[in-house]
Amino acid sequence: MHKNIDEIKKLESAPKVVRNLFSNSELEKFLNLYHNLPTTVHNKRQNVIKKRWLKNFSEELESLFYEKVKNEIGEFKMDNLKDEKNEDILGLFQESYNPIGLHVDAGFNLDEVIYKQTLIPLTSKGSTVIFKNKFYGNSTNFTIDENELKVKDLKYGQNMRSSEHLNIYKKKPFDQEHHKKFLQHEKIENLSGLEIDLVYEWELGSMLIFDRTRLHCSSSLIEGKKIGLTTFTKK
Ligand SMILES: [Fe+2]
Repeated sequence: MHKNIDEIKKLESAPKVVRNLFSNSELEKFLNLYHNLPTTVHNKRQNVIKKRWLKNFSEELESLFYEKVKNEIGEFKMDNLKDEKNEDILGLFQESYNPIGLHVDAGFNLDEVIYKQTLIPLTSKGSTVIFKNKFYGNSTNFTIDENELKVKDLKYGQNMRSSEHLNIYKKKPFDQEHHKKFLQHEKIENLSGLEIDLVYEWELGSMLIFDRTRLHCSSSLIEGKKIGLTTFTKK
């Protein structure tokens, strides 16, 4: 559990969509950056390409991003992982063809005061489901898949696997309509006790901001590939 839960809770707020924040030419710069960055992970099973936003690839975008986010959430620090050269990783570009499963991005250090995370869509088709439910441990993938739950040998920056969410929230069955409409890639049993807060339909130029304690996942509505940039902040 996070040590500063009280402080983390005080900083929590409803998820927020900021529209018309980035111009087309700014988005194009983000996409160029994405294409110029080296590939970190290509997970063939999940069909996900991940690229780390490495520092000094684009100072222009670094300060643009910082100013825009600061304008929305006030003072913050980036909660960065480090690369092999001990340089900060500013965020994560993800190109995916399949929906990403239920998880929380609460970080890897229980001493930090985790704050907000941001999602900037770089393609127009996609959606992200934010649940009302919160979790105060480390970054975790929530699953009931026995093989996934066996994975214990985690590399730096990898999420834990757990089914403990099913014990935390009231075990009310998940809304069947919502399951059919948005979450067919998840077993409905894995969603027991969860309630949707917001379904963010990706829109170019907009940014989604939400608390790092919120459970979330992609919705099952994907047409082709989607590319998004996620970053994580702390106080
Ligand atoms: Fe996430």
